[in-house]
Amino acid sequence: MANEPINLYDYEARAQLALPHDTWDFIDAGAMDEFTTKRNRSAFDQLTLRPRFMRSVEERKISTTMLGEDLSFPVFVCPAGSHGVAHPDAEVATARAAGRSNTLMMLSTASNCSMEEVAEAATGPLWFQLYHRGAALTEMLVHRAEEAGFKAIVLTVDTPVPSPKERDLRNQFERKLELGNFRDLGLARNEISGTDDTPGWDVSRADPLTWKDLEWLRGLTSLPLVLKGVRIAEDAKIAADMGVEGILVSTHGGRQLDQTMGAIEMIPEIVDAVKGHCEVYLDSGVRRGSDVLKALSMGVKAVGIGRPLFWGLATDGEDGVHNILELLREEVGRVMDFCGQSDVANLDSGLLNIPNNWGRGTVSA
Ligand code: FNR
Repeated sequence: MANEPINLYDYEARAQLALPHDTWDFIDAGAMDEFTTKRNRSAFDQLTLRPRFMRSVEERKISTTMLGEDLSFPVFVCPAGSHGVAHPDAEVATARAAGRSNTLMMLSTASNCSMEEVAEAATGPLWFQLYHRGAALTEMLVHRAEEAGFKAIVLTVDTPVPSPKERDLRNQFERKLELGNFRDLGLARNEISGTDDTPGWDVSRADPLTWKDLEWLRGLTSLPLVLKGVRIAEDAKIAADMGVEGILVSTHGGRQLDQTMGAIEMIPEIVDAVKGHCEVYLDSGVRRGSDVLKALSMGVKAVGIGRPLFWGLATDGEDGVHNILELLREEVGRVMDFCGQSDVANLDSGLLNIPNNWGRGTVSA
């Protein structure tokens, strides 16, 4: 049909038209000058492809795994709070879409649907993203996630303090929707939430999670642990030395700390630092199949999308998210064919021109 969205940016434009201005800003904004949000994209654009031609690509394989979970292609659903701002079916719609695309979904602590509701609706693998807001809540969330069938805990480490986005401040935006994982607990919002928009949030200051507490967290569950938001080699090395199973390299879409590099630029030093001891994933700025393959060629196992989930939800609910994933799948396949690549497991940096100064950060002990 004419005028169907043909790429993720078409969904972005439609979502902007469909959503109230302040909701759009909440989804789209980055922290402060939004430098890092923009750099997530400009860094991808600094990488160019080195295609190989005259090779047989009849047998193309784009499926992969994340800690043993099967994904039909190397794109997963990032954890993001409040899918309900974009569609009333919220995270249940997203989970159904991820299942239809046979890929993995990470569910946010700050979801509008509860983890049990999402587990009930999901047909694909689920990982639970954890914001640590004190020992008691963390214990409760981790135990429930394990019980509900989530397959890993993804601890977001890059939000030690809230980062109010200036667009949200200007719009006086407040997320009013219920946080499903805390239903009926009788807790005030500032005791359970707190990343960007919660006045009075100070839980993590009072009871922060530091490297020495990681063993405590691991002791709560037999599930594997992934750290989300690691930015530099030093932290990646500590995580790998401590036996963490995965690292999700992320700038949080530039929504927390501004003025860092784009996520893809951090990959060389992090892949180098972990030396294959844990899986490395990436999110932030992924919008095209070529972005996916650029990341994989640098040693990343799979990549996630954040804002595009909201674009799909706002435009067409579950079908919108599903179609966004399928558009990316189609692009991944096409770029593989063009580059003469038959298996995502075999991609390496020979596929890319990488700027000479990447991966040369000073790595202190
Ligand atoms: C997020 N993100 C996020 N991350 C997280 O660990 N827990 C969370 O609750 C949220 N919430 C959230 C809300 C919204 C509206 C957005 C857009 C993002 C960050 C998310 O997981 C991911 O790191 C980025 O969105 C990836 O960048 P892109 O794809 O948005 O550029």
